[in-house]
Amino acid sequence: MAAYIGSATPRIDGVSKVTGTAKYAAEFNVPGLLYGSVVTATIAKGRIVHIDCSAAMRAKGVIDVLTHEHRPPLADNDQAYKDFVAPEGSPFRPLYDDKIKFSVQPIALVVAETSEIARFAASLVRVEYEQGGHVTDVFSRRDAAIPIRRPADPVEASFSPPKARGNPEQAVAAAAVRHKGEYYVPIEHHNPMELYAATAIYEADGKLTVYDKTQGVQNVQQYVCGVLALKPENVRVRSPFMGGGFGSGLRPQYEVVLAALAALALRRSVRVVLTRPQMYGLGYRPAMIQRIALGADATGLLDAITHDAITVTSQFEDFYRQETGWSGLLYKSAHAKYAHSLAHLDLATSCDMRAPSAATGVYALESAMDELAVALNLDPVQLRLRCYSDRDQHSGSPYSSKALKECYRQGAEAFGWAERNPKPGSMRDGSDLVGWGIATGIWEALQVPISVRIALTANGHAEVACATSDIGTGTYTIMAQVAADMLGLPLDNISVKIGDSSLPQSPVEGGSWIATSVANGIATTADAIRDDLLRLAKRIPNSPLADAASDDVALVDGKLASKRDSTRFVSIADAMRQGGVDRIELEKTTEPAPDPSRAHNTHSAVFAEVKVDEQLDVIRVTRVVSAVAAGRILNTKTATSQILGGVVWGIGMALHEETLIDHRFGRIMNANIAEYHVPVNADVHDVKVIFVEESDDSNRLGVKGLGEIGIVGVAAAIANAVYHATGKRVRDLPITLDKLRR
Ligand code: MOS
Repeated sequence: MAAYIGSATPRIDGVSKVTGTAKYAAEFNVPGLLYGSVVTATIAKGRIVHIDCSAAMRAKGVIDVLTHEHRPPLADNDQAYKDFVAPEGSPFRPLYDDKIKFSVQPIALVVAETSEIARFAASLVRVEYEQGGHVTDVFSRRDAAIPIRRPADPVEASFSPPKARGNPEQAVAAAAVRHKGEYYVPIEHHNPMELYAATAIYEADGKLTVYDKTQGVQNVQQYVCGVLALKPENVRVRSPFMGGGFGSGLRPQYEVVLAALAALALRRSVRVVLTRPQMYGLGYRPAMIQRIALGADATGLLDAITHDAITVTSQFEDFYRQETGWSGLLYKSAHAKYAHSLAHLDLATSCDMRAPSAATGVYALESAMDELAVALNLDPVQLRLRCYSDRDQHSGSPYSSKALKECYRQGAEAFGWAERNPKPGSMRDGSDLVGWGIATGIWEALQVPISVRIALTANGHAEVACATSDIGTGTYTIMAQVAADMLGLPLDNISVKIGDSSLPQSPVEGGSWIATSVANGIATTADAIRDDLLRLAKRIPNSPLADAASDDVALVDGKLASKRDSTRFVSIADAMRQGGVDRIELEKTTEPAPDPSRAHNTHSAVFAEVKVDEQLDVIRVTRVVSAVAAGRILNTKTATSQILGGVVWGIGMALHEETLIDHRFGRIMNANIAEYHVPVNADVHDVKVIFVEESDDSNRLGVKGLGEIGIVGVAAAIANAVYHATGKRVRDLPITLDKLRR
């Protein structure tokens, strides 16, 4: 039997998704289900003076309207609202009191017999506000931004800027060649296809089963229990499928509180679905102002880097990620300094969005490196090779693996980089200017503790269970592949159960850490199953495995067989029969082995071609080659899709995406996917994904995980290509054609 790991196995949930049998949070029905529609605030700051629900209550079919004045009790302390990935601060409490902290904040829930009635009645709720003075513009707060202080908590501390090295300011000033630049990334919203939704089923015994759209069912479960003072055994949270998350579902969102609150108040099952405009009241990628200074000698050897960032968060929580230190992982430089300040605005709290901190920090770094290459009159790939670092300079540690040089080589070859004329504006295709740009990508290769349960039955079927989610990445499929290989069974004999808080422990699915964690978790539990089977097999009279140790045997083709002599084996069925069992069920927890002496990262080299219409300045991204080094690839098909999707995100970041706020009102002007632009089919042309071979022994299966690495570097590669095509450097994203007017 050929190995499933590493193959292009199609998604095992593909058929159920395309035929509609895969059900999402808003698709679970029960008799008597009620529908909630959310009323949101129209001001950005202030308080509710009066909320009049009488007209809404009179609408036929309306059951109740919940507000801060009319609702069951909610927890009254911050700790109860803290989820597993909450930042420092005081989490938002939906329907808690009269205070308005951001526009589109939920302030009432109308519950009715149908969703149409609920939505209509929500339009009848009248609210009188007392307005406070709001600030929503990061530029108006740049001087008031507060430097991040390194917190004691080690996880929080890892998000703070790394420590400085040497005397960077003097070194920049003394450098033969310098580049200084300021780069801007606007607020972006995740815009997953599936709307945030929760269906809270009120069970006969008063327990709740909540179908919620989330990247972490156990995170939501403990959050709901905290906020509503419920016992864990009375709340089960399920999220079998998710129509895109991209980080917006790492923290619990308010729809789950509202649905559960209404279900408890009315002792009925309640569904709450947010509208697309309401999705813009959730978290977002923080807007970011970054300044970078680079100093190099005349040959292109870097000597000094300074990188500082101002990012946006709310007035009540300090969300941030480590934007500034990526250069310390990529490029050798004796002198370096990093700084990061937070601008507090009257908005919802910012949050993780696809490669948080790297998508943005590396955009600025790789744009600046391109500008340095121009100043040096050096090929941008050569500059990166000249400054290449074999160590993480923050820790001094070598990498567990880093095949980035091979990414540059294979990417350049596939792209045809050698044909590039370095002079801006020198390459043409008819009336189009042609530009070629390159940038590096980097992301973390993390493994987290996880528990996996396997139930193997005598007929050679196995069920693999873990509370993790598949947010669209392919987790179901890679779990089945790994289980099939480890248990020596055909893929069709594996069933995968995930997305249920009652299953074995899993952290949120994010950070590109689940594939590594759950794959190694399955291997650990499968070993324990094998050992149990061996114990039973040895009891067979004259057992062919009588003297075998657990390392000597493997599960292959439905049998437990000697690795040295495949004629010595016991079938799974025979071993179980001997033991008088028809099923072996085991659960094991796998913790990553500590490896502090090495750095763990994935890398990429991204090559982009743009064509810019010389008269109209319309930009098209005509070709992208992304060469990725991410350890062992579990599934070349789903992995390619992850990188493809990342490239599409990068095209959006470079050319389209921007959440626009009317700062007079503190309200988002393009809170819909007609006016918030994302790349569509016509914007995506030839994208080639290459996986560079990379062997890594950080974990048993040699997996590093991927997903987020796909977006990192893409926006810079495109921005650099636009410069190469036009000679015009645009340092604020998105690069819209008005910014190209020469
Ligand atoms: Mo990802 S931003 O960790 O969901």
